[in-house]
Amino acid sequence: PMQGPAFPASFLWGGAVAAHQTEGAWQADGKGVSIADVMLAGDRQTPRAVTPTVTADGVYPNHWGTDFYHHYREDIAMMAEMGFKCFRTSIAWTRIFPNGDDPEPNEAGLQYYDDVFATCHEYGIEPMVTLSHFELPLHLVQAYGGFASRHVLDAFVRFATVCLRRFHHQVKYWLTFNEINNQANWRDPHALLQDSGLLLQPGENAEQAMFQAAHHELVASAQVVQIAHAISPTLQVGGMLALCPIYPAGPAPQDVLKASKAMDYRYYFGDVQALGHYPAWLAPYWAEHGLTIHQAPEDAAILAAGTVDFVGCSYYMSFTLKHQAADADYTYNEATDLTTNPNVPQSQWGWAIDPVGLRYALNWANARWHLPLFIVENGIGGAETLVDGQVHDQYRIDYLRAHLAQMRLAILSDGVPVMGYLAWSALDIVSASTGEMKKRYGFIYVDADDFGHGSMARVRKDSFAWYQRVIASHGADL
Ligand code: BG6
Repeated sequence: PMQGPAFPASFLWGGAVAAHQTEGAWQADGKGVSIADVMLAGDRQTPRAVTPTVTADGVYPNHWGTDFYHHYREDIAMMAEMGFKCFRTSIAWTRIFPNGDDPEPNEAGLQYYDDVFATCHEYGIEPMVTLSHFELPLHLVQAYGGFASRHVLDAFVRFATVCLRRFHHQVKYWLTFNEINNQANWRDPHALLQDSGLLLQPGENAEQAMFQAAHHELVASAQVVQIAHAISPTLQVGGMLALCPIYPAGPAPQDVLKASKAMDYRYYFGDVQALGHYPAWLAPYWAEHGLTIHQAPEDAAILAAGTVDFVGCSYYMSFTLKHQAADADYTYNEATDLTTNPNVPQSQWGWAIDPVGLRYALNWANARWHLPLFIVENGIGGAETLVDGQVHDQYRIDYLRAHLAQMRLAILSDGVPVMGYLAWSALDIVSASTGEMKKRYGFIYVDADDFGHGSMARVRKDSFAWYQRVIASHGADL
C-alpha cells in the first residue's frame, strides 16, 4: 500500500451506478419503456442499435442489468461493509411516470426508491440521486422528439419535482443530467439519444438539434435547482459533466488553440450551469454556422437564478487533439481529430489511462467555475473471470490508487475543493456505451454474462478489500 496524508474527515467516499445499468426488472411494478430498453447489445467496434419497439428476438441487456431491483438490500449491505459514506444511483423516470408525462405518478415506483434510500440510511450511507441518466421514457422520444421539445422540458421538471417532494428528507445530494456534455460529440447518434432522446432523420442538422435540446436541459436543470432550494435550502443540486481534458497533440500554436477551443465547446454546458449564462463565444458561433436556437423570453432569467451548488464530474480519460489544416473554429470531430497519446497507456477498451489528467482537470474546473467539485464516477472497465470464487482485479486497484493519489494532490497541495469520490461502479453493471456485461467495473462481481445468463450471485473482488482499507484510513492508506 501507498501511505500518505488522510483526506478531510467529511470526505464522501463511495460508489455509483445508474438505474438502467443495474436494476433490470424493466417491466416490474408498472415501469414503462425507456430508451435503454430498446437498445441492443453492441461491443467496442459495433455501436448499439436501437429498435422502435422491443422485439422478441432482440438481446436487450438493460432488461436484466445486474438485477439490483431484487438484490438491493444485499448490495447496499456489501457497500456498507466496504465503508461507503455515499451511494449514487439514478431514479428511473419510467418507474415514476411510465410514459414520462402521465397524469399521476406510479406509487409502486416511488415506494421502491423509498425502500432503497431507507436501506442506505439504515447503514449510514448518504444517497445521491441522478434525475436523468440515459434513460428517458421512450414515449417522450417517439411522440415529442425528446428534449428537442419544450413539452419534455416541462415533463422533466414535473418528474423532478415529484421526486424532490417525496425524497427530500432522505436525499440531500441531487444531480440533474448525467454527462450532459457527451452530446458535444453530436456526430455520434448514441450520444444524442442517451443525453437528449434525439433520434434524427437523415438530413437533419445534428449540431442545431443538440444545441436546442441542451438549451431545454439547461433551463430544466436551472428550474430544478430553484425548486429544490424552495423545498429545502439544505438540498444540494449539481450538474454532471464528463470531465475529460483535451490536450494539444504538440506545441504547435494551432494545436494549443484548437485544444483550448475544444474545451470551451465541450464544457459550455458547465459554464451555463455554474455561471448562469452562455459564454460570449456562442452567439457569434451560432450566427457563423447558421444555427438558430430558440430561447423563450424567460429563459435567461431562469438560467441566471438556477446556478448549481456544486459540479459533479465523471473522470475516465483524457483526449489528445490535433488541428487540421482547414480548422478555423470551435468544432472538433472526436472520430477524426483525436490522436493516441504516446505518454499514457490504454484500457482493454482503448480508453487512455491518465491519472495526472485528473489532477489537471480538477485544477482546470476549479479555476473556471469556482464551485465545489464532486467526482461522482471514476473507474476502469475490463474483462474478468471468476476462478475458485475469486476475481483478481489488480489492474483496477492500480487504476484507482493512481487516480486517488492525484486527487489527493489536487485537494491537499493545490487547494481544489472536492466534496467526495464515488467509484464507478459499486458493483458490476451493463456498460452504457457498448451494452456489454463483460466490460466490468465493480468492486463486486456479478455472475451474469452478456446474455443475462448466470446466477446473479455477488462475489467480492480483490479491489473490495482494498477499497475498504482506503475508506477506513480516510484515504491515507492507498
Ligand atoms: C459514463 C456513464 O459515461 O461512463 C456511465 O455515466 C457509464 O453510465 C460509464 O457506464 C462507463 O462507460 P461505459 O460505456 O464503459 O459503460
